[in-house]
Amino acid sequence: MKALAWHGKGDIRCEEVPDPAIEHPRDAIIKVTACAICGSDLHIYGGIIPEMRSGDVIGHETMGEVVEVGPGNQKLKVGDRVVVPFTISCGECFFCRNGFFSACEQSNPDREKAAKLWGNAPGGLFGYSHLLGGYAGGQAEYLRVPYADVGPIKVPNHLSDEQVLFLSDIFPTGYMGAEFCDLKGGETVAVWGCGPVGQFAIRSAFLLGAERVIAIDTVPERLQLARDAGAETIDFLEEDVYDVIMDKTKGRGADACIDAVGTEAEPSSSLMARWDRIKVAAFMGTDRPHVLRQAIHCCRNFGTVSVIGVYGGFLDKIPFGSAINRGLTFRMAQTPVQRYLLKLLQLIDDGKIDPTVVITHVAPLEAGPKLYETFRDKADGCIKVVLKPGMTETLPDTAKERAHA
Ligand SMILES: NC(=O)c1ccc[n+]([C@@H]2O[C@H](COP(=O)([O-])OP(=O)(O)OC[C@H]3O[C@@H](n4cnc5c(N)ncnc54)[C@H](O)[C@@H]3O)[C@@H](O)[C@H]2O)c1
Ligand SMILES: [Zn+2]
Ligand SMILES: [Zn+2]
Repeated sequence: MKALAWHGKGDIRCEEVPDPAIEHPRDAIIKVTACAICGSDLHIYGGIIPEMRSGDVIGHETMGEVVEVGPGNQKLKVGDRVVVPFTISCGECFFCRNGFFSACEQSNPDREKAAKLWGNAPGGLFGYSHLLGGYAGGQAEYLRVPYADVGPIKVPNHLSDEQVLFLSDIFPTGYMGAEFCDLKGGETVAVWGCGPVGQFAIRSAFLLGAERVIAIDTVPERLQLARDAGAETIDFLEEDVYDVIMDKTKGRGADACIDAVGTEAEPSSSLMARWDRIKVAAFMGTDRPHVLRQAIHCCRNFGTVSVIGVYGGFLDKIPFGSAINRGLTFRMAQTPVQRYLLKLLQLIDDGKIDPTVVITHVAPLEAGPKLYETFRDKADGCIKVVLKPGMTETLPDTAKERAHA
């Protein structure tokens, strides 16, 4: 089959790889009808995710049709149309039983290695290195889904692929980011990053009762999409984010701050942020936590900092003194996607949210390598790329029509 494989920093190729096969009775094989490129894939593309091997098949936002089911899988049958969460979860361990699916104790065969770095290990993820299971990813024609009687959700045929695909990751992730803020109604929420994840965080914050959302980025079309959802926006290269947020909140700070940027934050005028870049480039540091620092400083006393942007290692110069002295709450996670699926599918079906608004590019799988570059560079107005194996032509502007057809 064809798949997107990683061969090093900035080197992703669409190439022939062996077809996946059932390896365990609970597995299923999915014929992929649509998959997407995530901001988390950009960390792999940028060469900052450790334990990647040349030839690893990547991708973790995938949906399709079940074409083969293992003999121990009672939930799925051939022909089912499913969305596959990016987190791989057994459904039986302590964490799965408590709804913390992304911390599954059975799905990550690289547990020991991960625990050396992080003290303990999270669960396995599709297409995300040999720290997180080394599973082949879903930017491919076919995907083997382990524990396929736990993760995949069947989706109704009246909803298009574009409407439901983001249940695999970015919609639950943005929603979780807003849910972490514990909104009661009437709050001001600041969201750093107006990429696809930030867009879902903004919309979810409003759905959960925020009165105002202040969204921060510098890319004009992403800021515009945030305004379309009702947010006020700050361009971090044009204005001082801290000053503007303090101004807008009468000096108190935002009730909750969501970091939807993570480790590859661009520096603003801050010297510390530029220093992050130098340190990471010189292998003296692991992450660029500029946004996290800013989110802490901009959060009101006893407010919540919700971290959904991904970090990898040991973050430098985090103002923890500010956090303890002012009573901040920190929430963060790789999303336990399965926990949110039914609720969010219902929101889509009820028309409460239109996930297709983030899609700017729909293209065949073969266009993947080029579109990784386009997405990374935020070129050509790119906000979210959907790849469709088997599609024969590139239809950049028709995502919405296709979704509503
Ligand atoms: N927690 C999870 O389970 C989970 C799931 C999916 C994605 N993620 C993470 O969420 C993050 C965002 O993903 P995405 O797909 O939206 O990626 P993206 O790269 O498209 O979006 C990031 C956005 O942040 C903006 N940005 C950069 N520096 C900034 C700064 N200093 N201030 C404000 N904005 C800044 C960029 O312009 C960009 O629009 C990534 O770190 C990704 O790994 C986490
Ligand atoms: Zn993702
Ligand atoms: Zn488990």
